[in-house]
Amino acid sequence: MKRYDVIVVGSGVAGLSFALKVASQGYQVAILTKKTRAESNTNYAQGGIASVTSSTDDFNLHIQDTFRAGDGLCHEDVVRAIVGDGPDAIQELIRVGVSFSQLDDGRVSLHREGGHSKRRILHVHDITGKAIEEAFLSAVAAAPNIDLHEHYMAIDLITRQRLLRRGHQVPPGHDQVLGLYALDTINNVVETFCASAVMLATGGIGQVYQYTTNPDIATGDGIAMAWRAGVPIRNMEFVQFHPTALYTHTNERFLISEAVRGEGAILRNLDGEAFMKRYDERGELASRDIVARAIDSEMKTKGVSHVWLDITHKGEDILRERFPSIFENCLQHGINIGKDYIPVVPAAHYLCGGIVTDLDAGTSLCGLYACGEAACTGLHGANRLASNSLLEAVVLANRGSRAVVDFLKDYSDPRIPLPEWEAGVAQSSDEKVVLLHNWDELKRTMWDYVGIVRTNKRLARAQTRIKNLSHEIQEYYWKVNVDEQMLELRNMIRVADLIVQSALYRHESRGLHYTLDFPDKWDFAHDTTLRRGGVF
Ligand code: FAD
Ligand code: SIN
Repeated sequence: MKRYDVIVVGSGVAGLSFALKVASQGYQVAILTKKTRAESNTNYAQGGIASVTSSTDDFNLHIQDTFRAGDGLCHEDVVRAIVGDGPDAIQELIRVGVSFSQLDDGRVSLHREGGHSKRRILHVHDITGKAIEEAFLSAVAAAPNIDLHEHYMAIDLITRQRLLRRGHQVPPGHDQVLGLYALDTINNVVETFCASAVMLATGGIGQVYQYTTNPDIATGDGIAMAWRAGVPIRNMEFVQFHPTALYTHTNERFLISEAVRGEGAILRNLDGEAFMKRYDERGELASRDIVARAIDSEMKTKGVSHVWLDITHKGEDILRERFPSIFENCLQHGINIGKDYIPVVPAAHYLCGGIVTDLDAGTSLCGLYACGEAACTGLHGANRLASNSLLEAVVLANRGSRAVVDFLKDYSDPRIPLPEWEAGVAQSSDEKVVLLHNWDELKRTMWDYVGIVRTNKRLARAQTRIKNLSHEIQEYYWKVNVDEQMLELRNMIRVADLIVQSALYRHESRGLHYTLDFPDKWDFAHDTTLRRGGVF
């Protein structure tokens, strides 16, 4: 058994910045990450991080833009706090070594993106996430009291309740987190980690859908783990589809940053018509839900597989300089974006919902914290404003680190011995093919029936299929040795079920949840909160 003061699950911006802060107070911290250390949504972030830094901008404008995108569901206190903490978060990124792009006159270069009334997105060319990830990883490598365990996949939290349910002797007390089980995916053994506090910074869920901008790690593990531990999960129906991913004949969906539209790119249908003004007066810079639905509608009415994004008027030299990674990537697909239109389609991109937390990253379970994309603070409401997620991750990691340090000061160890992982009747798996088939079926089901435009009938169809997949994975889970793919599929099925359940509860169209059965909005806005065993 390995023992730490704090275990952080995830090595994206949320996990790394939190770990550094806690370790700087002298605590022993472990970071578990299921692939190599940089592999995360963070590493692929392009457009940048939103914050009020210019003298022509105003906190109230950023707050109002966030509210407008969030369509009535943003929590006002949370929005004010996170937007207000933005400039400090930017300073922290600079301190850790992030060099934001500058204009020729030395001022910081600010991108503009959909839904923002001002230029306020700080960026490092079009590879902002990679720059942030590298800076934090270097700082973590230099911290003597952080152990970073690559290829360790967290499976489940160990809590008092879990031990009681499994018949272990536990002294009386309220439920609390005591550690977790993690699979060493290189040696295929499950290890027990003991800790006073656990931070879930496991990122998003894009892999639940057939087409996504997210890398393979985004399987919603932290959300599923928290749900199994009885922690409330909120607003899972609000899955954000990014309007412009590069269309290819494979499942791969490389992102074409919204900042490209911020620089004047025009969306055209296959007849060459610039169609966005027909849908919203803000045109290409309307919020993402509106742009993605407009593209979906153009594709469906015309029966075509993509629309065009046209930035040719900027010319090759400027585009190469401003968007080097997008330029190069498109070129590898035979598209010179200085001369050619880019074929684009929407793709699953970001989860606005997640593990319910307060502004200090605290959850309902004592000792359990969550931040970053896995968490739902109330900032994004029914639709996230572009580039607000890196901001939220850094701010919540900071606030969470202060809360955890306070928690540790008063912590008294209940000294409950943690049992080793029970492998049960597990045999080696010879049913890999079933797993692969179920994996594909889940992703296709979510794409076909739980996408940008929904109906009750499609959601019910998805629910039936997910129930079947859920029965099969449970059976499988108890029968065979756990491996990474099976554990991910189990989590993805749980997350898919939570998305569909939440969507079925919302009898209105709001933000990212658009259903033909209930096209209007309720007069009163409320969150959808689910917990194991019920809704509340
Ligand atoms: P992640 O960065 O995804 O990190 C999650 C970590 O958890 C990973 O290290 C992963 O391996 C690990 N993990 C997951 N499950 C387990 C497990 N069971 N055990 C161990 N480890 C686990 N947002 C913006 O604000 N601005 C942008 O410009 C922007 N561009 C984006 C572009 C793309 C292509 C994508 C995909 C997203 C973009 N986003 C952007 C969203 C933003 O990048 C993410 O929301 C944010 O980086 C999430 O950070 P995180 O630390 O919460 O999660
Ligand atoms: C982008 O660059 O378009 C992504 C920004 C985001 O997801 O916030």
